[in-house]
Amino acid sequence: MALTINPLSDALGAEVVGLDTRSEISKADLEQLNHAFLEHHLLCIRSVPLSAPEFARVTRNFGEPQLQLLRDQRTGEAPEVSILESTYKTPEAKPDDLTMVRLSGWHTDDSYFEVPAKATALQGLAIPSSGGQTRFSNTRRAYDELPDAMREKIDRRQAIHAYDTRRATARARALNDEELNETKEVVHPLVRTHEDSGKRAIYFNPNRTDRVVDMDPAESDGLLDALHEWITKRDYQYHHEWTVGDILLWDNRCLVHSVNVDFPVGEERRHQRILLKGTRPV
Ligand code: SIN
Repeated sequence: MALTINPLSDALGAEVVGLDTRSEISKADLEQLNHAFLEHHLLCIRSVPLSAPEFARVTRNFGEPQLQLLRDQRTGEAPEVSILESTYKTPEAKPDDLTMVRLSGWHTDDSYFEVPAKATALQGLAIPSSGGQTRFSNTRRAYDELPDAMREKIDRRQAIHAYDTRRATARARALNDEELNETKEVVHPLVRTHEDSGKRAIYFNPNRTDRVVDMDPAESDGLLDALHEWITKRDYQYHHEWTVGDILLWDNRCLVHSVNVDFPVGEERRHQRILLKGTRPV
């Protein structure tokens, strides 16, 4: 059966219908999928839930997996697959102020590495009855539509990314010594050029970008605050309503994402994830 690619919103994203994730993907289908990925930045492949090795097999079609930083999230069955458990197990686990839940903050995966993941594959395994949408925002469009004065301010600027930053509302979880060693501060351009499409996008991670290089701290905070507001304009967003089995594959080079963490206590929310190796942002 031929694949159907249906756009999911004006901002980004496309749904893939007709792909059997239990079988090998043909060369022609893969070409169509890679083309759609570059055009839409996010694909939603409707699937049944897969075992970790099956999920790894499907995802390897799109790139080379890399290991997740947090050791305790890696699964034994396939080391590149990690389990993300976001269930509120007790009422105390869900704060009144939901901005204190780290997932609610906008971010792009792995920007605390010199070579961040180019893409992320995430499959829904257990989904609560309400809330829990993953929200995406298109930083390429945000760059294209930037007012000239703002574009001039950021075009040749670099920023420092760290595992955590005082700028994020919620704190990142503690790391062990091995993980700490792998997460020194790194410098990335504030605007990066996509190596496959040649297009430029704002590269800013509100959960992890600490400051602009060679800029007075107050000016740096002002600029990052303005960028945060700009890249998360509602026009640039798509919110994904999960169905169990959905596999989202998204491009970290031109999207940021966050989660609507307002879902019921005691209802399971669980995903499996694979990060795909990228190149150093330029
Ligand atoms: C993530 O931010 O990597 C996880 C997204 C989600 O739980 O929906």
